Amino acid sequence: MSLSIRHIEQNDAEICGKIWYEAHKAISFAHGYASEPPSEEFGIGLIRSLIKSTNSWGVLAERQDRILGSIFLHRFPPSPVAVIGLLTIQPSAEGNGAGRKLMDAALSQARILKHEQVRLVQSPSHIRSFVLYTKSGFTLREPLFLVQGQPLKGGTNVWGNNIRPVRDDGDIYLCNELCKSVFGFSREMELRQAKDQGIATIVERDGVMTGYAAGIGIGCHAVAKSNKDLKVLIANASAILGPGFFVPARNHGLMRWLLENGFLIGWPANLMTIGPYKEPLTPFLPSLAY
Ligand SMILES: CC(C)(COP(=O)(O)OP(=O)(O)OC[C@H]1O[C@@H](n2cnc3c(N)ncnc32)[C@H](O)[C@@H]1OP(=O)(O)O)[C@@H](O)C(=O)NCCC(=O)NCCS
Repeated sequence: MSLSIRHIEQNDAEICGKIWYEAHKAISFAHGYASEPPSEEFGIGLIRSLIKSTNSWGVLAERQDRILGSIFLHRFPPSPVAVIGLLTIQPSAEGNGAGRKLMDAALSQARILKHEQVRLVQSPSHIRSFVLYTKSGFTLREPLFLVQGQPLKGGTNVWGNNIRPVRDDGDIYLCNELCKSVFGFSREMELRQAKDQGIATIVERDGVMTGYAAGIGIGCHAVAKSNKDLKVLIANASAILGPGFFVPARNHGLMRWLLENGFLIGWPANLMTIGPYKEPLTPFLPSLAY
């Protein structure tokens, strides 16, 4: 029987959430990491919310009415980047090309939506996904680690930085300008959401904005002019949101400081991209999306 691809609907959320949880649990268990989705309920809840979201598009693969897995493509307007997330195939159905079909469908949708830039954060513990993404055109740009621990609460203010919440459109403008200079585009939608949740912060030196964090956590990004500024943002976060935050493994200075201050490494990940990529020349923290 041939494989078919169709839009994912609310009725599919339970089975797709279960598959997402089961597939990741199997990989994490094999490598001794905590499972990325903490529970089946979390997986189902997340899939339900993505199906409702106007900025996420999802399809599933099925054969003979049996759902094998699903994929989502997310947008963060006005960011030019579209993000692939939550690609999963039930472990017993792996190796039959379903993953590739779902990825082809998501990349076609990105083209229809005119997104030249597509990104994802891959779990390198799974060779299949790295192969699939590389064959689908993605390039590995940045090896990451999920770092876990608690904020240090002010321990770095000896450097004379000031930290405060993102308050208004003037602050958003400054953050957008910094983000554009680092990534080539702003991440305004995510920043505004973080501001509304009260988790977006700005760091200043001598009255000049030198970095911001749209929260510190797995779904959050941050950009700074120096590692000192990034350290102040991390040290003074109100909380680490979710199981940790991603740190580029190549940022030795930041990684060493985190490890010396009691943070632990949870699991590895890779930032992979299709389309134009401006390599950031100043420190940053990517989110689970990109
Ligand atoms: C990653 C995942 C979606 C792939 O689904 P799948 O249906 O098995 O994928 P496909 O069979 O279409 O593609 C896998 C490719 O890897 C290739 N492959 C697998 N192991 C390989 C290896 N060790 N070396 C080289 N190629 C390898 C396969 O031959 C296939 O390539 P082909 O289509 O050209 O033959 C699925 O394994 C999964 O859900 N894993 C758990 C969750 C996960 O890791 N998701 C991704 C998070 S980033």
